[in-house]
Amino acid sequence: MLMQTMQTTPISGQKPGTSGLRKKTAVFRAPHFLENYVQSTFNGIGGVAGKTLVVGGDGRFFNDTAIQIILRMAAANGAAKCIVGQGGLLSTPAASHLIRLRQADGGLILSASHNPGGPDADFGLKYNGPNGGPAPEAVTDQIFECTQTIEYYRTCTADDLDLETIGQQSLADMDVEIVDPVADYAALMETIVDFEKIRALFAGGFTMCFDAMHAVTGPYAHAILEGILGAPKGTVINGTPSPDFGKGHPDPNPTWAKALIDKMYGADAPDFGAASDGDGDRNMIVGRGAYVTPSDSLALLTAHAHLAPGYRDGLAGVARSMPTSRAVDGVAESLGFGCFETPTGWKFFGNLLDAGKVTLCGEESAGTGSDHVREKDGLWAVLLWLNILAETQKSVAELMADLWATYGRCYYARFDYEAVDSAKATEMMHDLRSKLPMFAGASIGALEVEMADEFSYVDPVDRSRSDGQGIRVVFEGGARAVFRLSGTGTQGATIRLYLEQLETDHDRLQEDAQKVLANVRDAALQLSDLEAITGRTAPDVIT
Ligand code: G6P
Ligand code: ZN
Repeated sequence: MLMQTMQTTPISGQKPGTSGLRKKTAVFRAPHFLENYVQSTFNGIGGVAGKTLVVGGDGRFFNDTAIQIILRMAAANGAAKCIVGQGGLLSTPAASHLIRLRQADGGLILSASHNPGGPDADFGLKYNGPNGGPAPEAVTDQIFECTQTIEYYRTCTADDLDLETIGQQSLADMDVEIVDPVADYAALMETIVDFEKIRALFAGGFTMCFDAMHAVTGPYAHAILEGILGAPKGTVINGTPSPDFGKGHPDPNPTWAKALIDKMYGADAPDFGAASDGDGDRNMIVGRGAYVTPSDSLALLTAHAHLAPGYRDGLAGVARSMPTSRAVDGVAESLGFGCFETPTGWKFFGNLLDAGKVTLCGEESAGTGSDHVREKDGLWAVLLWLNILAETQKSVAELMADLWATYGRCYYARFDYEAVDSAKATEMMHDLRSKLPMFAGASIGALEVEMADEFSYVDPVDRSRSDGQGIRVVFEGGARAVFRLSGTGTQGATIRLYLEQLETDHDRLQEDAQKVLANVRDAALQLSDLEAITGRTAPDVIT
């Protein structure tokens, strides 16, 4: 085996976004692109000599090739050991758990999450630290700096490793351990939720459909739901991971998981429906004829978490990203614990979880999680829901109706304008920012502005500051509009407009969300001049 030091030069566009580096697969496959980024990651975290890393991905196209490249580079950089999921597979939450369980120094997760996979679609890579969570900004900044000055990377000539056979192998002086991707994760779930109760629920005839969207949660859901918990075979659909996710878009929302939504609103709907995304960290929850928004799901789980063994002693606190609806705030207030508001990005929850300030957290972007790992966790959310359904013996629709009757309902929608010309999107945000001082007290259509600002965050644990995290306009009467540019897109800019309207009138808790949100939508479009500036008259996706 030959150790090689390869000359290279910086490649532009290697700045990690909301969740690691995401690019078109073709970009990742271009000469030196992956190698430069991996070496910069190693350099940016102070080298990997003597370290143990967890490596795995969501099985998308290029996953296997990229893992072999990473393993050769890790060996050449002196890593002591890599722990790799069998077949190169690890869901993001399972990778987070493995880092923590094995006290590894960190991990490399190969995924572009919910983005489509394939040679013409997307690929991604991110580094998670020793706490199992996405690297904080100080680290990703460091990595980015290294990408701009890189002169060489280290690799070695070696045959591909056999990723299919569980057990120990070696690559130069580095140990490689191939592990069952599901076993440790399933064992963790059993310590959190009441498997007996859920088993009894299924044994009693409760029906469910879990859509794995041809992505990584297939093996996990087959093993846990149908295997351990005894749900009938066929409960899990699209359960075999495929490199292009069955040519689908593995994003669990009503647009991309439409087949599941149709089933849940159809005549023979099962009792419970759920889906997860490409790498298994997102979730969608839908009852019979009852879609649950991610923001509402966070509120519901917060209100009932104590029914599960892992949270029997109550929650230390909760956190939500700023654009996530304020539904959970009322629950936290009434249960007497803190509710933190963070910028978008799971990494911002890490310090709060590590410091024990929060137990549960969630985002409007279909992420919910807790302190059991340092990533959001799709299947965990589904299992916690099942635990709550088993304990309360209520339907999803009944649970939601109870929640809204107690706290009011936060009607919510997110409008996405995708692949907008970057300059125009920036101009719109810039314009909004400059107009902010004029908004306070202004009447816009039917609404009056109560407060408007650009969100910035000071981390309560390490005091780090993150500016420019979205423009929010709060209106009198419980309405709010938030504007931000997505940090995960791979083409042009994606403008996200988040709309919310709190309704506490008991007679108006079952209205059509888009109708209820019409006033705040009109006001937001007027304030931002979005349509004139971008030329877009309708969002590409509404979630
Ligand atoms: C990823 C991150 C989330 C984030 C989501 C949307 O899934 O892990 O924390 O909420 O992307 O981010 P974006 O910047 O595209 O709105
Ligand atoms: Zn994901």
